[in-house]
Amino acid sequence: MFKVGFRCGALLIAVYLPCIGICAAPAHGQANKSPVAPNTARVEAAVREAYEKYRNDTNGKNADYIPYLAQVDSKLFGVAVVTTDNQVFEIGDVKYSFSIQSISKVYTLALAMEELGHDRVFERIGSEPTGRAFNSVTAVVEMPTHTGNAFVNAGAIATTSLISGKNEDEKWNKILDFYSKVAGEKLVLIDEVYKSEAATNAGNKALSMLLAKYERIYADPFESVDIYTKQCSVGVNATQLARMGAVLADNGKNPATGEQVIKVEDVPFILSTMTMAGLYDSSGAWAWHVGLPAKSGVGGGIVAIVPGKGAIAVFAPRLDDAGNSVKAQEVIEYVADKLAFNLFSPSSVGLK
Ligand code: DON
Repeated sequence: MFKVGFRCGALLIAVYLPCIGICAAPAHGQANKSPVAPNTARVEAAVREAYEKYRNDTNGKNADYIPYLAQVDSKLFGVAVVTTDNQVFEIGDVKYSFSIQSISKVYTLALAMEELGHDRVFERIGSEPTGRAFNSVTAVVEMPTHTGNAFVNAGAIATTSLISGKNEDEKWNKILDFYSKVAGEKLVLIDEVYKSEAATNAGNKALSMLLAKYERIYADPFESVDIYTKQCSVGVNATQLARMGAVLADNGKNPATGEQVIKVEDVPFILSTMTMAGLYDSSGAWAWHVGLPAKSGVGGGIVAIVPGKGAIAVFAPRLDDAGNSVKAQEVIEYVADKLAFNLFSPSSVGLK
């Protein structure tokens, strides 16, 4: 038995049934309906099959370099899909709030582009895959840009340092408010995660000082690491994460609130960076096998975007060696394959 939510607009009726929940009612009318919105029954079937197929997989292990993450229940498993016409599919532990971790980097990049424009962000951060681990020091030393891209730790800390504000609190609150707008509801910091990570983030502090040496960090290095650590400690559940993904699928508009939260022109920059670096040094394998822009976090979440159609978010804490949730990758690959979502395949736009 698992929890099922039938979600329509703001109303959630929770019951316990061995099936998944669907809401077929778009929040903002048929005028918003994407011409490529996916078929409800097919999405439901694919998500259910994937959930059943992988629910007992015990491969991988929780991240443990952040002590809090090591003690999260490894059996937790939730899958949520939010479509551009605001249908919501949920199965499993979709209400458990886990730390967003590196998935936050997607939305800080969006906010930085909102404030500075995409050209200046590109010039200050860059968008090259590093081919190395997400916390690599070597990449900072060896890459011509030093920052690499906005999704490795060094580039992400530098991106956070671009966010303006009178002081640390103002910058942090601006980031949290922006994430909440994207999620369509108030998000909060998981204080225990923040404390656990702040006590063990010497590596990120070292990266920030190295960036300072190369003049590739744009505010006080340790202040930037602290704000970055807070952004990684924001709690989201699978449904909130799927909605944050659906915003990118819907050209920057939140399909639940109707609010344009990310500029239309910035969306391709975000999705291309997700394709090249969203799963770190296994992003190439991911593009090969799945063909969808996605972003992972060591908290166990992955969100994948199907432009024009929606987003799928999976939470399962056990990670592979690159730091990506094993079950989340399996489920997303299964669903993408079943529904011909691979963007590099002309079949994704209906070519037979
Ligand atoms: O800075 C860190 O190491 C973590 N706060 C985030 C890393 C992360 O999520 C990488 N993910 N796959």
